[in-house]
Amino acid sequence: MEKKKVILDVDTGSDDAVAILCALAAPELDVLGICTVAGNKGLDFTTDNTLRVVDLAKSNVPVYRGCREPMVCTLNKNRHGGFDGHRTRKDENGNEAEYHKDHLDIPAATSTIQPEHAVFYYIDTLMKSEGDITLIPVGPLTNIAMAMRIEPEICKKIKEIVLMGGGCRQTNCSPAAEFNIWIDPEAAKIVMDSGVPVTIVPLDATHKACTTAEEAQEMRSWGTKVGTAVAELVDERILAYRLAQPMENLYSAPIHDALAVCAVIDRSVLKDVVHTHVDIDIGGGLSDGQTVVDPRYYPDEPINCYFAFNADRDKFNKMMMDYLRTYKD
Ligand code: BDR
Ligand code: CA
Repeated sequence: MEKKKVILDVDTGSDDAVAILCALAAPELDVLGICTVAGNKGLDFTTDNTLRVVDLAKSNVPVYRGCREPMVCTLNKNRHGGFDGHRTRKDENGNEAEYHKDHLDIPAATSTIQPEHAVFYYIDTLMKSEGDITLIPVGPLTNIAMAMRIEPEICKKIKEIVLMGGGCRQTNCSPAAEFNIWIDPEAAKIVMDSGVPVTIVPLDATHKACTTAEEAQEMRSWGTKVGTAVAELVDERILAYRLAQPMENLYSAPIHDALAVCAVIDRSVLKDVVHTHVDIDIGGGLSDGQTVVDPRYYPDEPINCYFAFNADRDKFNKMMMDYLRTYKD
């Protein structure tokens, strides 16, 4: 089987952690590198957490530190407050719940970061490639957009971008916007306007593919380090979602970023996929960072992406757990 060459771009992050573990375990993927970006937490935390996850997976995949700040978004102080946007909530017993801890509860990393900046890693790797690399960004799109601005020729070399971000009928950071896009809307617009084939795995899909407390318990029952670590992360997410953003099943939560990885391997985990034009609102107003999905048959602008409104919950969770089960200690 020919493996798909991929580069992950992460702001690790509890769901990023699961996405990385799935990608590194998947026999269908050849993970060339992992780039980090500021998002769920500041860059030092997202980078340290990424190294922790790579060590947990016993992988040698190179990790490249990327951008510390969104492209230009934070220059406008009225826009929004930057990172760490998720507020902490307390449960019925007064315990604090949050989606992402500063440091993931897994052992500190011993592996180290590559010397090259993620943006230049993208440019070097893509320019030398045969146009066969898929990018899987599951955080703000700052690194990729910056690389496209520095060397626009990379756009012809990217096979496809499958990104987690955005939402049409589902949002989280504002009434209009999803976190990854809201953090760096200009970067998202550069990517959407780049001409590279894009598939968007938005909240509309990830909220339909939630992982349940029973599935977390099953992973814990494997008795492996990875099974236990992921079960804890999923349980933390379930609590945080129940308090802040309840899902239909109160004892379940989306593992957004892992769905994007699984979609690269098997597109049929996504359902109700429309081929349309998506634009990003960078106006700084009420809908700043919105992924504006054109519902019309003939959009004004050229069709630039596939956008998934739904997902196959059972298929996704089976895929995810099958990959995670392969970690044996
Ligand atoms: C996205 O935002 C982050 O908090 C998650 O890691 C995911 O990539 C969901 O809106
Ligand atoms: Ca993420």
